[in-house]
Amino acid sequence: MALLEGEGLTKRFGGVVAVDDVTFSIERGESVGLIGPNGAGKTTLFSVVTGAYEPTEGRVVFDGEDITGDAPHDICHSGLAKTHQIVRPFESLTLVENVTVGAEFGGRNPDDPEGRALELLDFVGLGDVAHGKPDHLSVGELKRLEIARVLATDPEMLLFDEVAGGLDPEETEEIIDLVEDITDRGKTVFLIDHVMKALMTVSERVMVLDNGQLIAEGTPDEIQNDDRVIEAYLGENANEDPESIVSGD
Ligand SMILES: Nc1ncnc2c1ncn2[C@@H]1O[C@H](COP(=O)(O)OP(=O)(O)OP(=O)(O)O)[C@@H](O)[C@H]1O
Ligand SMILES: [Mg+2]
Repeated sequence: MALLEGEGLTKRFGGVVAVDDVTFSIERGESVGLIGPNGAGKTTLFSVVTGAYEPTEGRVVFDGEDITGDAPHDICHSGLAKTHQIVRPFESLTLVENVTVGAEFGGRNPDDPEGRALELLDFVGLGDVAHGKPDHLSVGELKRLEIARVLATDPEMLLFDEVAGGLDPEETEEIIDLVEDITDRGKTVFLIDHVMKALMTVSERVMVLDNGQLIAEGTPDEIQNDDRVIEAYLGENANEDPESIVSGD
């Protein structure tokens, strides 16, 4: 049975149709990528799924329950959590305190939220700096802090909005490994990225949005060879070295 389903999802902002009649389905344990040009509606689709915006039309079903229009914290409590495209930790709190807030917000009430936060900071590779403040963290470390914060809500499914954006190649490798560790633990993953190497490595299946519409869906190989996708998105990034789009170098 599908874990997450969107049925005819549309989101309009005034005259802008950010998400246009999108229907999709993600199985439990699957890792699915979402790509498309800037402004295609990817973040808006995530926001509609996680309750930040109510869809103008359509339905969101998670684990058999209709969650359309539910409050974000209720959706998070039901096991569906997302990382933010722009990471904004609480600057005055230590890393462990930041992640503990996630554990408490998640509503799963672990017996020892701080112990759980420390475990997760270890898991994302930030155990050594757990008691420091976030102000000296690199972009890659901030992304990993965000992942720990989201894992602290104990989600069944994670939505990642551009976790590899702005990272250098080494940090990108680390994030790919981390997302793979998360999928290996049986979590269902739905991720947006412009870094094709990261997205194509992690995804079993890729969906493509353009102008709010789902224009293609398939394996990473199929998507990289789809004329419509190359025209709408992959081709636009083609500079002197077309290989760079796929390799992410
Ligand atoms: N709160 C909002 N109010 C009005 N228009 C919005 C709002 N949020 C998004 N939009 C518009 O909806 C469209 C889709 O934006 P969205 O941020 O979902 O794209 P995206 O695919 O995530 O792009 P990017 O790759 O640049 O992150 C754009 O035209 C954007 O300007
Ligand atoms: Mg976006």
